[in-house]
Order: sequence, then structure tokens, then C-alpha cells
Amino acid sequence: MTTAQITGWGMAAPPTVLSNHDLEQLTETNDEWITTRSGIKERRISHVPLSDMATVAGHRALAAAGLEPEDIDLLILATCSGDTIIPSAASFVQAKMALTNAAAFDINAACSGWIYGLEHATAMIRSGIKQRVLLIGAERLSHYLDFTDRSTAVLFGDGAGATVLEAADEGGVRSTTTGIDGDAAELLWVPGVGSNTPPGCDLPATSGVRMNGREVFKRAVTMMGEASTKVVADAGWELEDVDLLIPHQANMRIIDATARRLGLDPDKVVTNIHAYGNTSAATIPMALTEAIEAGRVQPGSNIVFAAFGGGLTWAAAALTWGDRVESIGTSDAEFPRTDQTAFDLLAPNIEYFGKGV
Ligand code: ACO
Repeated sequence: MTTAQITGWGMAAPPTVLSNHDLEQLTETNDEWITTRSGIKERRISHVPLSDMATVAGHRALAAAGLEPEDIDLLILATCSGDTIIPSAASFVQAKMALTNAAAFDINAACSGWIYGLEHATAMIRSGIKQRVLLIGAERLSHYLDFTDRSTAVLFGDGAGATVLEAADEGGVRSTTTGIDGDAAELLWVPGVGSNTPPGCDLPATSGVRMNGREVFKRAVTMMGEASTKVVADAGWELEDVDLLIPHQANMRIIDATARRLGLDPDKVVTNIHAYGNTSAATIPMALTEAIEAGRVQPGSNIVFAAFGGGLTWAAAALTWGDRVESIGTSDAEFPRTDQTAFDLLAPNIEYFGKGV
């Protein structure tokens, strides 16, 4: 049976860093609290639109797969912080990358978006409807940071990760699961953006991320564990067959709990939350790219991906890696240079919401 395999990978982390110590100047917090409660030490703040970040990551993934832009017949962009609501962020990326033969759309499943996209890309490839899918997870959540709400403002960052999926005869995506509890949607949301906001009115103060962190935390631990266990069983594996867990990077304590549930040693778990914070739909393809570059993905590795996020959504996938762990080519796609600091880039947030100190 035809299966879908990841053949290209790449990431784009904007250059400007916002450290925990920097945050102490913006809201009432400290490095010790953020580190022990979340595992985050710093995050990146983008000086370019989301579609530009996605474009850099996308070119790098195409080069790794040895493909040209015209080879792609579908672009799926997982994001909840696109450049505009209409059109999709995918339409900007399609133009910027010159994906001349591709259909393109966004998936908004918040932090679970890349795995939702993986499930859709796999179905498209298995059915023969599409042959080569570029699946990007990208977020510019810094736009929604409200420093008067310290419980959310310290968690999120910007970034993009991209993967190419192609048909293969064996291995690849073995099982996926996706789910949502819409009744709990208001536990994590940005209430003031969208068509519920009356035309012509200034953005309300509710256009920041609002989250009941404790409740989301409990549900994330339960659902990432359950979803991971399910895809392992559906893949026909035992838990000891798992070589690598690449979880959504929302909170180190959630990651540790998920790993414990699967009985995995820490050396089988990929984490980079300390460096980028929660980049929502981008965390998994970014962590995957870093894991490959660090030599942690081997030919034939059995990998589990798991995520939980706004919606409230959850998702997991089990995949057996192919033979190739080296990039075929490299791309010279790069961010434009900037001398702006994170404080410069966040000045509009501070002006609009104010500071929390
Ligand atoms: N600095 C210092 N103190 C803080 C901060 C801060 N940044 N934020 C909150 N506190 C305080 C609180 O006010 C509270 O003080 P109190 O006890 O005097 O009231 C205390 O710290 C504990 O607060 P909690 O909210 O209980 O802290 P918790 O241990 O739950 O950690 C956190 C909070 C990190 C948000 C955690 O709940 C979490 O990670 N939740 C899940 C996040 C997640 O997975 N989101 C899903 C993906 S996101 C997406 O889809 C876009």
C-alpha cells in the first residue's frame, strides 16, 4: 500500500531573542518561575510577517527533499496567527515560494495543527489525489502577547517548521489520531479577533491570548498520553518499539508526564522548549528538524508525535522514518537582517495593552 513519508525538513527561527530576564522588564515575573513552571529560557520575536517565516522554512524543506517549488501539488499551512484572516496565510506563501502547481490552504487546529496537517497530507497521498505535499507549521503569536497577563505572556514565541511528504512503498505514517472538545474552547482563546468583533471598532482589550492554564495543563497531560498510546497500538507497535517522541513544546512538565506515560527514557524525547518557548503549530516540525540535524533520527526510527492546544484539540501520529537522514540540498533562503531588539518589536503590544510591571 502507498504510504506517506517525510522526505524534506527545515526550520526558520527569527533572529531576535526575548529572554526570561528581558521579560522581567515587561511583566511581573522572574526567570526562576518561568524556568521551573514551563522549562522556557528564551523565545524568538519575528520582525517579518508569518508568511515570510513560513517561506524561509518551506524553501529549506524543499531543498532537503531535492525538489523545486513547481514539484509541490499541495501546500498545507498549519497556523492560528496568519498574516490576515482573508486570504489564508497559505496563499501568501504560495506566491512567495512560487508554488505554481499547488493548491494551498490553512489549517487552524492551534498547537495540534501540524499533526492535523500530517493526517490530511497522508490521506491525500494515499488516495493518489496529491503526490507531493509541503506541510508547514508557522506561528507569530508575539502579535497576541499581552504583558498585563503574565500567565500567558511568558509562554509563547515565533517560528516556523516545514516538512515535505511524498509517496513511499513502506514505512512512513503508520497511524494518526485527531480530536477536539469544542465545549472547552474558551479555556484557551483570543476572543477579540474575528467576525464577532463589530466592524470599525478598535481592537478590544481581549485581543490577547486568554488561557485557564491549570485546566489546559491537566487536559493536555491526559490527552497527549492517551493519543500517543493509541497511535502506538494502531501502528502495531509495543511501547518499547518507540525510538523517539517528538511532542508539542508547551510545557516541560507536560512533556515529562507524556514520556512517563509511554515509559520512555528522557534520551528518547526531543525537547527544545528552552530555546523557543511555545510556537504552537511550529513546535513539532522545528523539533523534528533539530533532531535530524543532531543525528537523533536514524534510518528506520519509529517516531511518535503528540500535541494538544486551542480548540481544545489533540493529535498524535506514529511514523517510521525512511532510509535518508541527510538533506539532498541546501537553500540560501534567509531572514532579512534586523537591528531591532525584542523590545522594539514588542512596542506596539506595550503601547496597546500596557506593561504588567
Ligand atoms: N511569573 C510569576 N508568577 C506567575 C506567572 C509568571 N509569569 N504566571 C502566573 N504566576 C503565578 C500565579 O499568579 C499564581 O500565583 P498565586 O498562587 O499567588 O495565585 C502562581 O503563579 C501559580 O499559577 P498557576 O497558573 O497555577 O501555575 P501553573 O503551575 O499551572 O503554571 C502554566 C502555569 C505554565 C501556564 C501551566 O498551567 C501550563 O503550562 N498550562 C498549559 C499550557 C498549554 O499546554 N497550552 C496549550 C497549548 S497553547 C495553544 O494551543 C496556542
